[in-house]
This record gives sequence, C-alpha cells and structure tokens, in this order.
Amino acid sequence: MKILITGCNGQLGNEMRLLAVEHPKHEYIYSDVIQSDNAFVLDITNPQEVADFVAQHAIDLIVNCAAYTNVDKAEENEAIAQKINAEAVENLAKTGCKLIHISTDYVFAGDACYPYKESDSVSPKTAYGRTKWAGEQVLAKTNAIIFRTAWLYSTFGNNFVKTMLRLGKEKSELGVVFDQIGTPTYAKHLAQAIFKAIESKDWHAGTYHCTNEGVCSWYDFTHEIFRQYNALCPHNPIEAKVKPIHSSEYQYRTPRPFYSVLDKQKYKETFGATIPHWTEGLHECLEKLVEN
Ligand SMILES: NC(=O)c1ccc[n+]([C@@H]2O[C@H](COP(=O)([O-])OP(=O)(O)OC[C@H]3O[C@@H](n4cnc5c(N)ncnc54)[C@H](OP(=O)(O)O)[C@@H]3O)[C@@H](O)[C@H]2O)c1
Repeated sequence: MKILITGCNGQLGNEMRLLAVEHPKHEYIYSDVIQSDNAFVLDITNPQEVADFVAQHAIDLIVNCAAYTNVDKAEENEAIAQKINAEAVENLAKTGCKLIHISTDYVFAGDACYPYKESDSVSPKTAYGRTKWAGEQVLAKTNAIIFRTAWLYSTFGNNFVKTMLRLGKEKSELGVVFDQIGTPTYAKHLAQAIFKAIESKDWHAGTYHCTNEGVCSWYDFTHEIFRQYNALCPHNPIEAKVKPIHSSEYQYRTPRPFYSVLDKQKYKETFGATIPHWTEGLHECLEKLVEN
C-alpha cells in the first residue's frame, strides 16, 4: 500500500516514521504543515490541497497523526482547533482512502471510577476534547479506524517526561498532582498498535482504546521517571523531592480529567495484541533520551 502519514513532525508521526522501516513492504509518504526532511508540506485543513495530494500520490491509506494538541490554547482558539481536529478529518475521509485516526481520553468527562470502554458515553469538558469528539463524529459512518489514546510522550517534541526531567534538575522539590489517574503511553507503542491494524488480514473499522497497560497518577509517573532515570544515570542523578499535591493546588488553566483510564480489551481481542506496561515504555524512552 501507499501510506500517507500526516503530522509526521509530531511525537506519534516521528515514531511512525521510525517504525515504517520495519514494514518495508509498503511505500510511505510523510507530510506536515511545516517543512521537514523527506516530507511534504500539506495543510490538512485545505480540502482541495488534500484531495489533489492524495490523487497525485495515489494514496491507499492515511494515518492521521496531525492534530491541534495544546489543551490550554484550544480554549482560546477553539475555531482553529475545530478546523484541524474535525474539519480536516472530514477532508481526509472524503478522499475515500482507508483512514486510521487518533483521538483522546479527553472525549470523556474524566469522572469515572472504572476504565472507560469504547461504548461509554462521551462528555468532553474542554475545547480540545470537544473538537476531538467532533473529529470522531465526522468518521461515524465511515470505515475508519479510530485509536483513542492518552498521556502520550516520546523522545520527540515536548511532553511530560521531558518537562519533569528538566524540572527535576532545576528544582530541589516538585509538587505533582496525585489525584488525576490515567495511563502514560509511549508513542512508539501506539505506533506499533497502528501497524498491528495496518498489517491485520481484515480491516477492522471502529473505535479502539489504546494506551500502555497499567494505571498511575502524575505523581506516581514522576516518581518512576526519576527512579528509572537515576538507575540509568547514577553519576548524574536527579535529587529533587517529589511532593504529592491536589489538583486544586496547581494553577490549571483548563480542567483536567480526574480519571481517564481506558479499557483496552476490544483492541487486544480484535487484533490479537499484547500491550507493554507503561513502566516498560518509560524505560525504553528514557534509555533513548539518556543515550542522546
Ligand atoms: N499528546 C498527548 O498527550 C495526546 C493524548 C491523547 C491523544 N493524543 C492524540 O494523539 C495524536 C498525536 O499526538 P501528538 O502528541 O503526536 O501530537 P503533536 O506532537 O502535537 O503532533 C501533531 C502534528 O500535527 C501538525 N499539524 C498541526 N496542524 C496541522 C495541519 N493543519 N496540517 C498538517 N499538520 C498539522 C503539528 O504541527 P505544529 O506543531 O507545527 O502545529 C504537529 O507536527 C493526536 O491526534 C492527539 O490529539 C495526544
């Protein structure tokens, strides 16, 4: 197949690029809104550009890694977020290509006390969540595959792991919220799940929850980041203390879900897949970050 990876400069897009090397039977075309090596410039919000690009390159399958992902800025720029997270998704769907799209735990209210299933009611509480839900709705009657994920990080771009490593070096004590529960997800492992769907004998259209295994708070996550980092770098350890704080003590500009663990049973059963625990994903990512 000829596979177009949009948003190839982002966390997931970069991981897709790296993994594509292990799946050489397909041909890959990479694009993003900003120029990068071996990639085309394609603004997915432009319907004509998308249609022309897909026709010109005879694309069979699109993996849409492009998105407006800044949760705080989306509150002030909901119209732009809507354009990228929903209207652009329609542009991609209209090409008639097979489509794998990525969504988020933010479509849920985040106040459950059990892992969310795909069939659970959505109730986004943020502009980002609303626009991502709108993007899902655009695909409701198509044969697209949607992966909802959460707490994504990688060696690329800015993310929680990199921020905590930096703050851990700068500060002697860090307050991190312990009352928000979810699952950190290594973007490489999500990319592996996407390839599992691409390589599957049958095309299983529908929505799937896909994060790493396990559950933790941002406080636990930080603790584990520092513990693993110090095991990898005993001669240059992070010495900052991690203090558990309530969400009410942190100046959030936008409300965050308190509980957004996703139930991954449907994904695992449909694709016969296993998913690594989040601590394994973290280990792999930290090893790479330390190496660099
Ligand atoms: N990050 C998370 O914690 C998280 C959690 C749950 C779900 N997700 C979902 O997972 C997916 C991948 O997230 P990610 O963290 O890899 O995102 P990311 O790092 O923000 O990458 C998104 C990429 O899309 C590009 N893009 C923005 N507007 C575009 C446009 N009009 N046309 C083409 N490309 C455009 C961005 O470019 P610029 O940077 O130049 O704008 C960026 O390179 C997204 O669908 C996101 O909603 C992420």
